[in-house]
Amino acid sequence: MGKIQDGKKINAYMSPIRLGLIGAGVIGQRHLRAIEARPDITVAGVADISATAEEVAERYSIPFYSTAKSMIHSLQLDGMIVATPTEHHASATIESLLAGRHVLVEKPMVGTLEEAKQIIDVARENQCHVLVGHQRRYYELTTRAREIVQQGEIGQLVCVTGQWNMRKHDSYYDPDWRKQWRAGPILTNLVHEIDLLRYICGDIHSISAETAHSVQGFEKEDAAAMIMRFENGALGTFLLSDQTPSPWSWELATGENAAFPPTSQNAWRIMGTMGALDFPNLTLWKHHGTPPDWRYQIDRRRVQSTWQDAYIRQIEHFANIIRGVEEPCIDAEDAMATVAATLAVFESAAQGNRIVLSREAVV
Ligand SMILES: NC(=O)c1ccc[n+]([C@@H]2O[C@H](COP(=O)([O-])OP(=O)(O)OC[C@H]3O[C@@H](n4cnc5c(N)ncnc54)[C@H](O)[C@@H]3O)[C@@H](O)[C@H]2O)c1
Repeated sequence: MGKIQDGKKINAYMSPIRLGLIGAGVIGQRHLRAIEARPDITVAGVADISATAEEVAERYSIPFYSTAKSMIHSLQLDGMIVATPTEHHASATIESLLAGRHVLVEKPMVGTLEEAKQIIDVARENQCHVLVGHQRRYYELTTRAREIVQQGEIGQLVCVTGQWNMRKHDSYYDPDWRKQWRAGPILTNLVHEIDLLRYICGDIHSISAETAHSVQGFEKEDAAAMIMRFENGALGTFLLSDQTPSPWSWELATGENAAFPPTSQNAWRIMGTMGALDFPNLTLWKHHGTPPDWRYQIDRRRVQSTWQDAYIRQIEHFANIIRGVEEPCIDAEDAMATVAATLAVFESAAQGNRIVLSREAVV
């Protein structure tokens, strides 16, 4: 590449980007902190319905709007971050796309497949990108695990087992909306795991699941158990509960969230015909001998990876999508497949059936 082209590319990566934030609660403020690390990215407006969010906007010296519509139509913006509760994701995203803005929408992208299809159609019609906030995809340890599995380092993938078991604090459930099914651990937490399972192990073909409500007695589930078959023939199991104190979860394994002291215990085990991988601490297990069977010593090796702030990487990626120099690493179609697999957990538990995911939702 010649000097002029190089210069153009550097300029493209640094051109200023102006964003609007819809919803300045817990995760909205996490985005604001990530953006502080990037002088080329500015949040030019915050839209929220609460007085607390207005105080947040004041603290950051950002103009505040009481509706997303008024902000979108008052400001020159390149893109929007949608960080409202999930039931408002579709309306805020569609409003932004109709105004020609690219969107970074929090996970889960939506709570229904109909809403997912609407977002995909409106994004296409308005030639805008949608990036979905599955931030775990940006960690180097995720990339390493994906390479190890997909490049055959543990041989042919045969099975994977994982868990997410934590106990949320009781006051978390004070707001009524948190007691409802849309705010339960399947749509809030399992959706992250399913997205990573798809990203690392491949698309999911079918799911059987059971859910339990025996601890809190709310509409939302206390626990879920699932069995999966992947498109590549591998099998998987996963256990989830937000009522079980334990060291086995992504958050405690990685220390991603400063509010939860880390344990560095693993959450998943991935097994192939040539070896196995503990995840996310990336311990690779292989027998000495050839073939690597049970007669030989099994050795462990720690695969190195560096830890970076995924929210900063995500916002850099979003800015580069807006600049036209990168494509979304998880777009609305891909996120719809994650939502479809997550919703299949509810469907299977309710019907007592195995749910085969439609091709439409896995491509
Ligand atoms: N990526 C992650 O790891 C992660 C972590 C936490 C939350 N989330 C997701 O982010 C979303 C928000 O979660 P949260 O924990 O920040 O919730 P929150 O309740 O802390 O914040 C939501 C904010 O949106 C505002 N709001 C509600 N309705 C609105 C509307 N119609 N227009 C504008 N603002 C509105 C609320 O007043 C509040 O300030 C959820 O979808 C959640 O699943 C993602």
